Amino acid sequence: MSTKQFDVVVIGGGPGGYIAAIRAAQLGFNVACIDEWKNDKGGPALGGTCTNVGCIPSKALLQSSEHYEQLNHHFADHGITADNVKMDVAKMLARKDQVVKQNNDGIVYLFKKNKVTFFHGRGSFVAAKDGGYELKAGEETINAKQVVIATGSNARALPGVPFDEEHILSNDGALRVGATPKKLGLIGAGVIGLEMGSVWRRLGAEVTVLEGLPAFLGAVDEGVAKEAAKVFKKQGLDIQLGVKVGEVKTSKKGVSVAYTDAKGEAKTLEVDKLIVSIGRVPNTIGLGADAVGLKLDERGAIVVDGDCKTNLPGVWAIGDVVRGPMLAHKAEEEGVAVAERMAGQHGHVNFNTIPWVIYTSPEIAWVGKTEQQLKAEGVAYKAGQFPFLANGRARALGDTTGFVKFLADATTDEILGVHIIGPFASELISEAVVAMEFKASAEDIARICHAHPSLSEATKEAALAVDKRTLNF
Ligand code: FAD
Ligand code: NAI
Repeated sequence: MSTKQFDVVVIGGGPGGYIAAIRAAQLGFNVACIDEWKNDKGGPALGGTCTNVGCIPSKALLQSSEHYEQLNHHFADHGITADNVKMDVAKMLARKDQVVKQNNDGIVYLFKKNKVTFFHGRGSFVAAKDGGYELKAGEETINAKQVVIATGSNARALPGVPFDEEHILSNDGALRVGATPKKLGLIGAGVIGLEMGSVWRRLGAEVTVLEGLPAFLGAVDEGVAKEAAKVFKKQGLDIQLGVKVGEVKTSKKGVSVAYTDAKGEAKTLEVDKLIVSIGRVPNTIGLGADAVGLKLDERGAIVVDGDCKTNLPGVWAIGDVVRGPMLAHKAEEEGVAVAERMAGQHGHVNFNTIPWVIYTSPEIAWVGKTEQQLKAEGVAYKAGQFPFLANGRARALGDTTGFVKFLADATTDEILGVHIIGPFASELISEAVVAMEFKASAEDIARICHAHPSLSEATKEAALAVDKRTLNF
């Protein structure tokens, strides 16, 4: 049997890889994608970390737990009360699995529609061959003229404390906890720590988060981080900053974590389950990087230039396995850009306008520079802020926490950063991203007609606030 030949082979079927494959196929390449993720029955489950144990299932659980929280604590304000409210965790997990499956199946459909050949199994380099590459795709051997590596990342474990997914949980185990733990510990108050901590706190767990750094959400605008810390504390999340985690011991009963608090006092945290969310490491396991001399950096990430080119001709790498933020939409944009570059077009990713969202309640979203970054860079800026408390739609929703904050250049008024904490921040941030892509000024947004009553009016008002002329505050 002759070896199958492809113009482009994508290794990894997460958001970076599957989008790169589709875009490359749209551009006329003969494309294959290899992905090794297995569902519970051993079959394929396209979509990578994001679809299987990341973005999608976490948002499904956040939604279910938020409904429960609303019913228990907020619906009474609307005159709605219910007796005997119960949370069926098994059903919540089954719904989450169903949402994941819909997304898995959606990608299978998209591959068929775009004529992308799919191989289920591990993809690895065998050798450089005939100006291209010979690869293993599961049990098969295939040839590619060009290769896109999109192998993603894995959860980082605490040194000497491997994940057992029973007591010490990565993001995978954190999304499969079968019953609400009485006491839940999290190491790391980053994005996963806050999202997963919120899910289980809403469902009744006593949640303690141990964070190594002395500052809360250091990458977030200080004003937003301060507001978030206040709200999360009120909700009952116990977030301890500046701790040093020591020995972690598991027993039948649960987990005990020895740590030193910010004052240097030795303490122990006893919990039923411990989620370790201290960042992620790029994944090149079994890729055969050595077989072809693919260059990795000291963190294990594949070394790429600004165009996602590796040190090997015709080999590109995108998403979590390379530098930059570990976000699904960043991976997707790189996938599109690489496919277009392979076709001789000018693929483009603007790192300055990649939005970030933390899907807690309230949501936190931002794009561009924080106030502390502008200060450190010596940039002269103006700030404008508008609270949701003064927004009619937020009052009607019954969710007036937080604000929208604009940062604009002091001289040109160009928007340099937008920071939102509050209802639907994840949706509101898109307007700011569009504005920054078009290099808009705060005045541009202030002059745009926004629907009333809508949360987006808070965005317009924050833009007005830059020039100290809010209308409703
Ligand atoms: P991945 O999604 O990791 O996909 C890589 C794929 O490659 C996997 O299917 C893997 O099995 C496969 N693979 C690896 N090596 C091989 C090989 N040698 N052969 C074959 N297949 C291979 N980001 C957001 O933007 N928004 C969110 O809300 C969000 N929530 C998250 C929640 C959690 C709990 C976690 C853990 C992450 C979250 N992320 C979120 C981050 C997001 O999941 C990643 O940034 C994104 O998945 C990266 O995409 P990728 O394509 O680079 O890699
Ligand atoms: P993270 O980088 O967001 O947060 C890790 C936290 O752990 C940091 O605050 C860090 O200071 C702390 N930490 C590190 N080592 C520690 C130690 N030994 N002891 C105590 N604290 C320690 O990483 P996280 O939460 O694991 O998420 C990984 C990535 O996944 C995120 O950076 C993000 O890119 C992505 N993600 C995105 C989401 C979104 O977009 N909504 C949701 C979840 C994850």
